[in-house]
Amino acid sequence: MALKPTPEDKFSFGLWTVGWEARDQFGDATRPWLDPVESVHKLAELGASFVTFHDDDVVPFGSDAGTRDKILDRFKGALAETGIKVEMVTTNTFSHPIFKDGAFTSNDRRVRRYGLRKIIRNVDLAAELGADTFVMWGGREGAEYDSAKDLKAAHDRYAEGIDTVAAYIKDKGYGLRIAIEPKPNEPRGDILLPTVGHALGFIAQLEHGDIVGLNPETGHEQMAGLNYTGGIAQALWAEKLFHIDLNGQRSIKYDQDLVFGHGDLFSAFATVDLIENGFPSGGPRYDGPRHFDYKPSRTESFDGVWASAAANMSTYLILKERALAFRADPEVQAALEASGVFDLAIPTLAEGETLADLLADPSAYEELDVDAVAKRGFDFVHLNQLALEHALGAR
Ligand code: GCO
Ligand code: MN
Ligand code: MN
Repeated sequence: MALKPTPEDKFSFGLWTVGWEARDQFGDATRPWLDPVESVHKLAELGASFVTFHDDDVVPFGSDAGTRDKILDRFKGALAETGIKVEMVTTNTFSHPIFKDGAFTSNDRRVRRYGLRKIIRNVDLAAELGADTFVMWGGREGAEYDSAKDLKAAHDRYAEGIDTVAAYIKDKGYGLRIAIEPKPNEPRGDILLPTVGHALGFIAQLEHGDIVGLNPETGHEQMAGLNYTGGIAQALWAEKLFHIDLNGQRSIKYDQDLVFGHGDLFSAFATVDLIENGFPSGGPRYDGPRHFDYKPSRTESFDGVWASAAANMSTYLILKERALAFRADPEVQAALEASGVFDLAIPTLAEGETLADLLADPSAYEELDVDAVAKRGFDFVHLNQLALEHALGAR
């Protein structure tokens, strides 16, 4: 049963998703260019509230100022007509051959300076359109060969680039935050800031890291064999989950960008459970747009493109309904309790207790019957089966 989205669902799509012409490494485009204005109208009809885009998705690379203005006016017209808002903007620093060795971290300084200019121009546009988030996906920031990069200098230049943009945003008083999107590889052999964890460590060393966070993509963590829900959980805990790219990926292979839920479905259930229900003990929540970054498969006609866009939203809503039922089930609450899930929120040292007090507490160590404590079963399998039965609608 397909569920219909409402504005409260905050669904958002990249224009490059439905607009993908489906050209791949081995084959030509299977679909013609899609007018972004048409995409805005169609996504609005399907129930999305927002669109996002790279500069070049709307204004072709190299357009002169007059052409750019004309195209943007027409685009803004579509936004006004449909009520669709732009919540995020990002820059294409990967398609043109000038960026073949990266933008912020190209070994050629001329490219780095050009890339910075292209990004700053797009920050101005993002602010003008009222976006909240400025995504930076450094797809070309990397290498195929270990000897190709001075990795110390590469991290210095990456930090210099992002700090310069962040300082500009602050200077201008723009209401924008930067969200770095990690990816382990593709199109480069290895990409800098390959995972959520690498990016979090990097942000902590920035001068203007207070307005820099993350835009983790489901498939990108899964390409590295990592748990996406675990990644966004750590970003939330660090209060750095500024945005999300939801999609589907089936195991460690090329970036599939499938419809959300069409990859690891049970993991998608856990993702929606975290987003919609939060941590069992409360704490930071993600309240931003539910943004889909997928590619309608190369096999699809435009009918399939729009069906796949609707499928992302419908799948999310089905999983949301399932996740709410999961947490509301008294049997699940009892199982969470029995598994000690709620106990983990209790600090290990009591209020006011010092490490010296713990060291002096024989019940914690000398007198503890470790074999008896070790006998405890946590019943996580039972809990997981309850989750699975809710996810499948069997409860
Ligand atoms: C990918 C990436 C890209 C980025 C987008 C934002 O699939 O490798 O998700 O789609 O999200 O280009 O810059
Ligand atoms: Mn991807
Ligand atoms: Mn993405």
